[in-house]
Amino acid sequence: MKNTIELGMNRSGMATAPRLAPEALQVPRLTQKTQGDGTEIAAERIDYCKSAEPVATMPPPGSLKELATTTMKLLKGEKAIVLTDKVGERMGFERGGVRLYEALVSKLEAYGSWERGPTRQELEDIYRDELRHFHLLSEVLEALGADPTAVTPSAEVHDVMAHGLRMVISNPAINLQQSLEAILVAELVDNDCWQNLVRLASGYGEQQLANRFQQCLDEERVHLSRVRNWVSAALSNDAFNDAKKLLQHVEPWVAAETPKPISRRGVPAGGKGRKMRGHGGTSGRGKRNGNGARKHR
Ligand SMILES: [Fe+2]
Ligand SMILES: [Fe+2]
Repeated sequence: MKNTIELGMNRSGMATAPRLAPEALQVPRLTQKTQGDGTEIAAERIDYCKSAEPVATMPPPGSLKELATTTMKLLKGEKAIVLTDKVGERMGFERGGVRLYEALVSKLEAYGSWERGPTRQELEDIYRDELRHFHLLSEVLEALGADPTAVTPSAEVHDVMAHGLRMVISNPAINLQQSLEAILVAELVDNDCWQNLVRLASGYGEQQLANRFQQCLDEERVHLSRVRNWVSAALSNDAFNDAKKLLQHVEPWVAAETPKPISRRGVPAGGKGRKMRGHGGTSGRGKRNGNGARKHR
């Protein structure tokens, strides 16, 4: 892989044309001064916020049966829509994650990898995890009596946030190493948001669902750690010509074993509006060693 940091014709700094610097420095003097300290714009922002419509609302249940389930939960004081909103958010994010990893595979083909950088197989493994998480969440939404095709308020917010990530990864001038910075942001967010899902499901007393979310969180931790290591190896290569120099710290869940993947059959679907029950299972995914744990680099 070509080093990302190379000298070129970047003219953004003043040092490239020092003789013109005094002229450039006249610009602030030519610019009309504003009065005040930003108080006015702050007041303006607050005004806009007060009159703004919600970014999105929760969709109403799609059928009378779903309405009954939702209403019952709400009457019991369990605001199930909080969980539904966050599950909808994660489902949208996981779907987007699948596309991001697909695009990363293209970047790998175009730019190549580096010592201790990602392999195609590793990117595809994560791609498959994200896809499986998406299907799981879609089925959980159905089990909650919600419409998995609806964009919930939190899904809308996260989609706006993810816009920048898509812009980075889909830009052909941004190489694989630079694109990994964007996927690192995605995995960091994903880790925290899966953690929230685990806590929410536990809070609602849906322990089996919480366990299932925990398995996804464990897989997301592995994704994050892998991406961190790829980024570190690239930096290490660039700075020291030694992929290992910055890789002193190996996170324990990557070094040895990873959690068993969730079987789609174990998803607590069972039809719309049903109480979620079920058990996790295993499915073939990636290379495994003798005890079923997946090998990681
Ligand atoms: Fe994810
Ligand atoms: Fe992930």
